[in-house]
Amino acid sequence: MNLIQMTDVGKSYGPVRALHGISLGVAAGEVTCVLGDNGAGKSTLIKIMSGLHPHTEGQLLVDGEELVFSSPREALDRGIATVYQDLAVVPLMEVWRNFFLGAELRSGRYPLAGLRIREMRRIAEEELRKMGIAVHDINQPIGTLSGGQRQSVAIARAVYFGARVLILDEPTAALGVKQSGVVLKYTAAARDAGLGVVFITHNPHHAYLVGDHFVVLKRGRMHLDSRRDAITLNDLTQEMAGGDELDALAHELRREDPA
Ligand SMILES: Nc1ncnc2c1ncn2[C@@H]1O[C@H](COP(=O)(O)OP(=O)(O)OP(=O)(O)O)[C@@H](O)[C@H]1O
Ligand SMILES: [Mg+2]
Repeated sequence: MNLIQMTDVGKSYGPVRALHGISLGVAAGEVTCVLGDNGAGKSTLIKIMSGLHPHTEGQLLVDGEELVFSSPREALDRGIATVYQDLAVVPLMEVWRNFFLGAELRSGRYPLAGLRIREMRRIAEEELRKMGIAVHDINQPIGTLSGGQRQSVAIARAVYFGARVLILDEPTAALGVKQSGVVLKYTAAARDAGLGVVFITHNPHHAYLVGDHFVVLKRGRMHLDSRRDAITLNDLTQEMAGGDELDALAHELRREDPA
């Protein structure tokens, strides 16, 4: 059974129909890539899965049970964790504190409880090591890490706190080649840990490196839905770039022959 199954899901914002006719499954131990141009509906799709905006059409099943999330908390309680592109980290706080942000270990009862600092440091260090993430010092401010490392810490955190579905919203969009590689590596590590990963991207090359399953959105609809073994990188790139549109553009941009 798929962790998440969408059938004919749609979403309208008032008169704007941002998404319609989306049927999509997220399976454990697989990476589902959602591709599409600006405004195609990628963020809307993950907002439905992560409980930020409820869908207005169709069915959303989680572990086979039909649900309409009314808050991100509800999605999180079902093990659906989302790492947003603009990570909600506190740059001056240590790596381990960010790792536990909002879920700190305490001894005794709130409000007099003390933080179990040593234990949190140890666990954060251990969890990052398990994922193969090299951070010099668990006490360094998270703002001193590279973008790729910060994304990776967020992935390790979701895994540690028991996520079963991990949604990554354009995790490589702002990164260079090397840092993107780092993030792709941890995306694969989360997959190998058995999570169902939803990977949002503009970049067919990144998608093809980690994806088992590709969905291309265009103007709110599913334009393509293919398993990896049924599509080549070339075809995926062509689908994404809108091959015909590019040909037309190339024609338009051609220099006039000098007379
Ligand atoms: N809160 C909202 N209210 C009204 N319309 C919205 C809202 N959010 C998104 N839309 C519209 O829904 C459509 C899909 O937007 P969405 O943000 O899902 O696209 P996207 O694929 O994530 O694009 P990008 O790559 O630019 O992030 C767009 O036409 C957008 O204008
Ligand atoms: Mg978006």
